[in-house]
Amino acid sequence: MHSLIAFTAWLSLGQSLTSAQTQVFLPRAPDSLVAATSTLRPWLSKDARIVFPSKEEWAELQIRGSSPRISPNYNVVVEVATEADVEKTVQIAGHYGIPFLAVSGTHGWAITLNNLPFGIQINMRKLNSTTVDPRGKTATVGGGTLQHEVTRALYAKNKQAVTGLCECVSVIGPLMGGGHSMLQARHGYALDNIVSARVVLANGTAVTASETKNLDLFWAVRGAGHNFGIVTSMVLNVYDVQNWTAYVLIFTQDKIEKLFSLVNEVDAQPSRPSNMFLTGTGVRISDIDAKNPVIAYTLGFEGTEQEAAPWVAPFQALGPAVTQVATDVDYISLHTVTQNNLESTTCRRNLNIVGNGASLPSWNMSALRNAYNIFGELTADSRFNTSVFLLENYGMEGVEAVDASSTALALEERLYPVLTSPVIWWEGNDTQTTADAYAYGEKIRAALFAGMGKAKKHTYVNYAIGTESFEQIYGYEDWRVKKLKSLKRKLDPKNRFGYYNPVPAV
Ligand SMILES: Cc1cc2nc3c(=O)[nH]c(=O)nc-3n(C[C@H](O)[C@H](O)[C@H](O)COP(=O)(O)OP(=O)(O)OC[C@H]3O[C@@H](n4cnc5c(N)ncnc54)[C@H](O)[C@@H]3O)c2cc1C
Ligand SMILES: *[C@@H]1O[C@H](CO)[C@@H](O)[C@H](O)[C@H]1NC(C)=O
Ligand SMILES: *[C@@H]1O[C@H](CO)[C@@H](O)[C@H](O)[C@H]1NC(C)=O
Ligand SMILES: *[C@@H]1O[C@H](CO)[C@@H](O)[C@H](O)[C@H]1NC(C)=O
Ligand SMILES: *[C@@H]1O[C@H](CO)[C@@H](O)[C@H](O)[C@H]1NC(C)=O
Ligand SMILES: *[C@@H]1O[C@H](CO)[C@@H](O)[C@H](O)[C@H]1NC(C)=O
Ligand SMILES: *[C@@H]1O[C@H](CO)[C@@H](O)[C@H](O)[C@H]1NC(C)=O
Repeated sequence: MHSLIAFTAWLSLGQSLTSAQTQVFLPRAPDSLVAATSTLRPWLSKDARIVFPSKEEWAELQIRGSSPRISPNYNVVVEVATEADVEKTVQIAGHYGIPFLAVSGTHGWAITLNNLPFGIQINMRKLNSTTVDPRGKTATVGGGTLQHEVTRALYAKNKQAVTGLCECVSVIGPLMGGGHSMLQARHGYALDNIVSARVVLANGTAVTASETKNLDLFWAVRGAGHNFGIVTSMVLNVYDVQNWTAYVLIFTQDKIEKLFSLVNEVDAQPSRPSNMFLTGTGVRISDIDAKNPVIAYTLGFEGTEQEAAPWVAPFQALGPAVTQVATDVDYISLHTVTQNNLESTTCRRNLNIVGNGASLPSWNMSALRNAYNIFGELTADSRFNTSVFLLENYGMEGVEAVDASSTALALEERLYPVLTSPVIWWEGNDTQTTADAYAYGEKIRAALFAGMGKAKKHTYVNYAIGTESFEQIYGYEDWRVKKLKSLKRKLDPKNRFGYYNPVPAV
């Protein structure tokens, strides 16, 4: 695809490539990119930027949560600053047949992102504004905003929105696939709180999707959104902030069966409070147990210690090795208490990360024990010893309150209260180590799925590694499968948005 003509054309665009950079870059530059970027440049707003590999900023713009494992093959980055910038970029890329991929938080871990053969990174980070609307019931949030930005902007107005948990992840990434969080039991998934979205379609036209406009698109954005367009902004419900009480109880491995039987029991109670979340992490803490991973379990309450006390009592009665309680925790600090803030281990970037997600109807103790034992082996291997095992039951009341047919989200995502995944981290780019990580992850997931009986296997789209079947991610109902595929044919016939756990057209 490359040629001398392409090379001289790049130079004529004003790039000063060193010979080392040309060697890395040239073999990947199809001729069409040159024409496309020079056509695009005059259309862009003054704050937009086109960044070529020769620029100093290039390297930083390649870093992802999970690089080098996930390294989409870009030739150029367009940092868009307005919705019209996104429209023009998509139109011109379409005209020249150049693939592109939107980037916001960089934390997507699906291996399908590596299918980008060449093309444009549409970097959304300049679209990062958060504005509380005059009535105080909703906020308008830019399509490239990260969670810590939204949380802080809203908190300044005594408001909060339903996002995911980790401050470093975008708002839109989790939302388009669901959005599990500390607020879901009360308010539903993040996507249940989207009032409308501005979406740039595959043909480069921006439209509004809401309950009253472009209903099909609005349906698809909520559950399969990564496959249907680029969201430039969205209107989200906001709620008044309250302070929290958070207990962190650390259990040694001998308590696993008792702990998760209790979790099953509490989760099944109709009186389970919707202002409570339960979530655990399997992790090595050698000061507590030198040989085995422990379970760091968090019970969070949007309310007072007094209100929380009766719910935490049965957990205390199991005899945790460590108990910590934090009271009067504001919504910003809650992210620090739960180790989801920007400085947390979870938010590390430029480190391989993979998780083989599994959603489950309840915990099966023998399956969990088997999975835990494999996780023990994984983390005994020093290459993987900072890995964790997510054991989440955030609560389903708000999630079940929404009609499952009203969004593209898989039915199982609304039925199964357990969200679990190993989160495997390792350094470097050694082929054998990568293969070992995948194998451990798959073994853990297989052990968990072996405990489901006849229930249908389901993986949350944002915890999928990219090897799962379409139905396992997007659901099994015949009408839902047909609707998703037919909307894909209608709205994205050339599969421009096909790099994130793709929805097939047929
Ligand atoms: C550390 C960490 C914490 C996480 N925490 C949670 C959590 O608490 N709750 C939860 O539900 N999930 C969570 N996840 C999963 C998370 O939802 C996905 O990893 C998600 O894809 C991340 O989105 P991103 O914008 O950060 O990543 P990116 O890699 O930037 O984007 C992910 C996908 O979304 C597309 N995209 C990005 N911006 C836009 C846009 N504006 N319009 C359309 N498409 C766009 C990209 O093209 C890509 O396909 C977490 C993942 C990690 C690694
Ligand atoms: C990582 O290793 C693979 C296989 O050896 C190779 O194809 C890929 O280019 C490497 N990636 C990086 C970012 O070094
Ligand atoms: C947020 O958006 C503003 C305005 O477009 C931009 O100047 C700034 O660089 C963005 N922030 C980040 C971290 O990209
Ligand atoms: C793009 O598609 C939308 C929805 O089908 C349509 O309304 C719009 O006119 C199209 N834009 C162009 C430029 O064809
Ligand atoms: C929340 O707690 C902080 C102290 O952490 C306190 O200053 C603030 O007044 C509390 N807010 C509410 C709404 O109780
Ligand atoms: C992981 O292994 C490395 C190398 O052996 C060691 O230095 C580190 O302390 C280990 N970390 C944990 C959490 O066990
Ligand atoms: C629990 O999991 C085991 C496999 O670990 C399986 O044999 C058993 O049938 C499961 N129990 C139920 C009730 O599904």
